[in-house]
Amino acid sequence: MYTVQLPTIGTYQAWRDKARALISASVPPEEILWTHGAQADDLFAGSNDLPEGGRHITVAKSFISLANLAVWHSDPQRFARLYDLLWILQTDKARLNDKADPRVERLTKMAKEVSRDKHKMTAFVRFRDISGPGANRRQFAAWFEPSHFIAEPTAPFFATRFGDMDWIIYTPDVTVQFDGQITLSEGTEKPPLPEDATEDLWRTYFRSIFNPARLKPKAMQAEMPKKYWKNLPEAQLIPDMIATAEKRAREMAAKAPTLAPARAAPILDRLHAQQKERMATQDQFLTALNGCRRCPLWENATQPVPGEGPLDARLMCVGEQPGDTEDLTGRPFMGPAGQIFDAGLAQAGIQRPQIYVTNAVKHFKFKPRGKQRLHQNPDSSEIHHCKWWLDLEIERVKPALLLALGGTAVQSLTGSRKDLLKRRGGVEPSTSGIPTFITVHPSYILRLPDPTQRAEETERFHQDLRHAAQLY
Ligand code: URA
Repeated sequence: MYTVQLPTIGTYQAWRDKARALISASVPPEEILWTHGAQADDLFAGSNDLPEGGRHITVAKSFISLANLAVWHSDPQRFARLYDLLWILQTDKARLNDKADPRVERLTKMAKEVSRDKHKMTAFVRFRDISGPGANRRQFAAWFEPSHFIAEPTAPFFATRFGDMDWIIYTPDVTVQFDGQITLSEGTEKPPLPEDATEDLWRTYFRSIFNPARLKPKAMQAEMPKKYWKNLPEAQLIPDMIATAEKRAREMAAKAPTLAPARAAPILDRLHAQQKERMATQDQFLTALNGCRRCPLWENATQPVPGEGPLDARLMCVGEQPGDTEDLTGRPFMGPAGQIFDAGLAQAGIQRPQIYVTNAVKHFKFKPRGKQRLHQNPDSSEIHHCKWWLDLEIERVKPALLLALGGTAVQSLTGSRKDLLKRRGGVEPSTSGIPTFITVHPSYILRLPDPTQRAEETERFHQDLRHAAQLY
């Protein structure tokens, strides 16, 4: 049995030299005990004199890269695992490409974990200014607790990045000092380091890049795992920022300049009157709608979906917004919700070609998920901006009755969607004074998971449409 003692500093080089000697002397993995650092001092087994050998060694470059990462892992078996694979590679070179081999798989995973830890160190070391009076160069110090033995292999990054200052990074295993050259020494306990102005800077920076409306605590913790928080000045802000994010997002939304100020009203009225004059014909209306940039929804949608039906229709049905099918076909209520709607119209004796069918919002709002485009509810600002088009359609068609299908249409037509289910089945004046019959949106029925409830709600929807059919 051979015992190989590896140092805490220069570990990779030492492992490489010893592994080379052992392979060349054909010493099999089971005859070697690898020890490292303090453990190396405590253990004693067998001989330290390695045998001499003349065996030819082959080592692929990809193994060297793998070893130069995995060797810094905290797994106590890392040296043995690497030697084991190196031993096999002497007779089976292709094994390194066999991702299903448990040794290769394990070492590859370890290499990845080390890479990630190195990256975290480059991102999360926070230097404090410890410059004394009269020092030639500014001096900084930092404390960092890595998950693996990565202070040594990460030191060159800091030397390049902070080459114009003197610095020292303390870690539990190794201390890295730089004064133009890197010096490595034993690790230490956490030293007392002064708070300094850069801490405030970090906190201010962090606060300013934090968008409460985009808060994703899981993603945030994946990027900045909790174990690093205690040594990051800005991380002390995180719990409070998470707790108050919702309130701050609401305040931000309330402050957002989505509506024109009151003094702009006469200017906008004049502008809109001119725009309307230029939309006397249906073609002009459609051309203008195609160029709509009133809100950002046009950017991702395929096209705006205008209302459809005779301009002297007595009933105008208003839905929420085009769905995936409507966005592609350019026509309202053509997809699954359209089928429920059509069935409801048919049983109420309403001929679709005789009514005008439109939406409160003309562009499809969605979130991409793989190949799918998932419907998203339009927000108040989008509903408000699109009301201009809906009002224009109402003005042109002058229906005797409006049928509001669901919360978005009710909000757009009456100004509020509050207590929708209580208001369902009732008639209220629209913002322009036209009687508006309130009912649910066909998608509401589609989404009900329980078939019995779906059947009941379909029947109620049909009743609503029959009722509406008597009112115009
Ligand atoms: N849902 C709506 O509100 N409108 C459509 O046109 C399609 C689905």
